[in-house]
Amino acid sequence: MTEERREEEPRVRNAGPASSRKTKDRSDVIIRRAEKRDIPALARMEKLCFSDAWSEASVEGSQSSPLGYLLIAEEPCGEGTDLPLGYLIASVFEDEGELLRIAALPQERRRGIGKALLSRMLEDHPGVKTWRLDVRTQNMPAIALYEQFGFGIITENPNVYKDPVDNGYLMIRTDRQE
Ligand SMILES: CC(C)(COP(=O)(O)OP(=O)(O)OC[C@H]1O[C@@H](n2cnc3c(N)ncnc32)[C@H](O)[C@@H]1OP(=O)(O)O)[C@@H](O)C(=O)NCCC(=O)NCCS
Repeated sequence: MTEERREEEPRVRNAGPASSRKTKDRSDVIIRRAEKRDIPALARMEKLCFSDAWSEASVEGSQSSPLGYLLIAEEPCGEGTDLPLGYLIASVFEDEGELLRIAALPQERRRGIGKALLSRMLEDHPGVKTWRLDVRTQNMPAIALYEQFGFGIITENPNVYKDPVDNGYLMIRTDRQE
């Protein structure tokens, strides 16, 4: 398997075809497509990262859907015991994609995991012209991340979130080549 180092931030190392490729950031975090065996770890991270966590069945539903696209970020610990640190769940249909979940474990934030996950999602879907997502209006870290990747706020929808109650922003990223 050949490997190639790219120098942009976050620095990544890709190997193999898109479906099996592993991406490494500068802190030695590997980004790879999540598989069925990763569902329990993703559901555990959901509980640690969201007040309205998806159930394991919901994560499994995304993983088994033909539209589902799931990534896991993990730190290699040797002997096949990689430590899950973050993940991303999206849904892609033809040239439209929706980012459904993205998270890094609380103690692992601000080390480039969110950026690496989003970069990989966009890189794996060059044919997607429009990406959309919904985010709490109070979620400044996430909104800053999305803006870095070219998402813009389109509308504000009142009281769509609970625990705690919050408005939601619809954010869109369109292919600027057009
Ligand atoms: C949003 C989230 C995924 C970001 O992950 P992360 O790995 O910490 O993000 P990164 O280290 O890659 O940071 C990327 C960019 O996000 C923004 N960002 C991240 N955390 C931030 C913070 N606490 N304050 C302000 N901006 C922040 C910055 O623009 C940052 O770029 P910079 O480092 O060049 O300033 C993480 O905060 C998280 O898991 N939050 C809880 C789950 C969640 O809310 N998910 C989004 C639901 S819509």
